[in-house]
Amino acid sequence: MIDIKQVGQVFGAVGNGGVRALQGIDLTVKDREIVTLVGPSGCGKSTLLRLVSGLVAPTEGSIFIRDERVTGPRQDTGIVFQAPTLLPWATIVENVMFPSTIMGRADEAARRRAKDLLKVAGIADFAEHRPRQLSGGMQQRAAICRALVHDPDILLMDEPFGALDALTREIMTIELLRIWSNTPKTILFVTHSIPEAVILADRVVVMSPRPGRIAEIIDVDLPRPRDFSLSGHPEFQRCTGRIRDLIFGEQGARFDVEH
Ligand SMILES: Nc1ncnc2c1ncn2[C@@H]1O[C@H](COP(=O)(O)OP(=O)(O)O)[C@@H](O)[C@H]1O
Ligand SMILES: [Mg+2]
Repeated sequence: MIDIKQVGQVFGAVGNGGVRALQGIDLTVKDREIVTLVGPSGCGKSTLLRLVSGLVAPTEGSIFIRDERVTGPRQDTGIVFQAPTLLPWATIVENVMFPSTIMGRADEAARRRAKDLLKVAGIADFAEHRPRQLSGGMQQRAAICRALVHDPDILLMDEPFGALDALTREIMTIELLRIWSNTPKTILFVTHSIPEAVILADRVVVMSPRPGRIAEIIDVDLPRPRDFSLSGHPEFQRCTGRIRDLIFGEQGARFDVEH
């Protein structure tokens, strides 16, 4: 579904205050696969996600979705950023419908779907409120509904639960898996939480910094459906242990990655 081929990204001019954010990234994500990206802060996770979304063009290599080269944002892709980025003047349901609106499909069916998603996210009562009337966590849930409203085949998520409290975060993680099992999508998900990365993923991509590269790709062989009670499972512990070794092994525990 997604083919990332020898992608590199340089911001500014190298050797002249420029930053090499990514180097030699090769990754293929299969249809309906969930791949999570973990790694220390600054290793290029957000940059890689933005390149796949088509919001930024890579300075090296190329990215293909369904064998078409990505040259800009696509209708079959939904994206969720770490901050909710809602339109302050629009109501919650208008915000959720926004992708349908810009695609010229803001019809009654789209409104119904938006309202159904708000129900799933537990914020249906706030449909006619403005973003500022909701907590940060509720705004983020609305942003996730917005990414799902046009039923994209690909979901790109950049630390979408980072701002939520631990309990809401676990609930949202399991809710995402439930949505995925009902309407399977290809998901590329960035997180700094190792348990979250493992519980979600078919494969975890562990990245290393300066410049951002893929250190290792770990297959997660856990049964589905999953929830956090699997955290005692030997396979869960093998995966989280391996990721910790890769991230903290040589450098010591200096990075802002959750154990
Ligand atoms: N627009 C930009 N201009 C210059 N440097 C950037 C830009 N975006 C990211 N970087 C740099 O690229 C590196 C990777 O950043 P980022 O992708 O945000 O990492 P992560 O999401 O893993 O924390 C960092 O060194 C960051 O400072
Ligand atoms: Mg980031």
